[in-house]
Amino acid sequence: MAAPIILTLLSYLLGSIPAGFLVGSSAGVDVRSAGSGNIGATNVARTLGWKKGLVTLFADVAKGFLPVLAAHLLDLGNAAAAAAGLAAFAGHLYPVFLRFKGGKGVATAAGVYLAAMPLGILVVVGVFVLVMLAARRVSLASLSAAVLAPVVAWALSYPEEVAWMSLVIGILVVLRHRDNIRRLMAGEEPRFNLRR
Ligand code: G3P
Repeated sequence: MAAPIILTLLSYLLGSIPAGFLVGSSAGVDVRSAGSGNIGATNVARTLGWKKGLVTLFADVAKGFLPVLAAHLLDLGNAAAAAAGLAAFAGHLYPVFLRFKGGKGVATAAGVYLAAMPLGILVVVGVFVLVMLAARRVSLASLSAAVLAPVVAWALSYPEEVAWMSLVIGILVVLRHRDNIRRLMAGEEPRFNLRR
């Protein structure tokens, strides 16, 4: 009983590590006051170049992947794996290290899905890439992927806990993109252009 609780707490702490903020700080930039103001890989790439964006992406994906993987390796069951994934995701959104003001959670969610539904993530990432290629807006691709993930979880018969977890993640990702949605609807969301 103690192991799932400890893992959930550790997952939250891991998710709280603000990779994008740290990458930005190492370059002397507070990404919270640059570009979209988000601490995610998109905004790091937008303001500091694709290499730093890639480092941020990798770290944020790992924050979601490792807790769920740990739950599986420790044989803690689906509920513990879902709790660990949700906790890591919540850590990214509400990081204790940044006064609970975090990011939008897309990359961390992708890491959670990579471990919790490895086949499902292929479909989700496939749709992300297609929307990205068609619309050139990361936010629209993220929203499409976030909404699709719970549908995929249920369609591919992943455990109930995983499906509910992806539904909660999807709702939170949509809520976190409120400003992006407003800009998309007004036709004001900028296209994503990679900086060197
Ligand atoms: O993953 C975040 C992305 O969907 C939007 O990022 O910086 O364009 O608001 P940003």
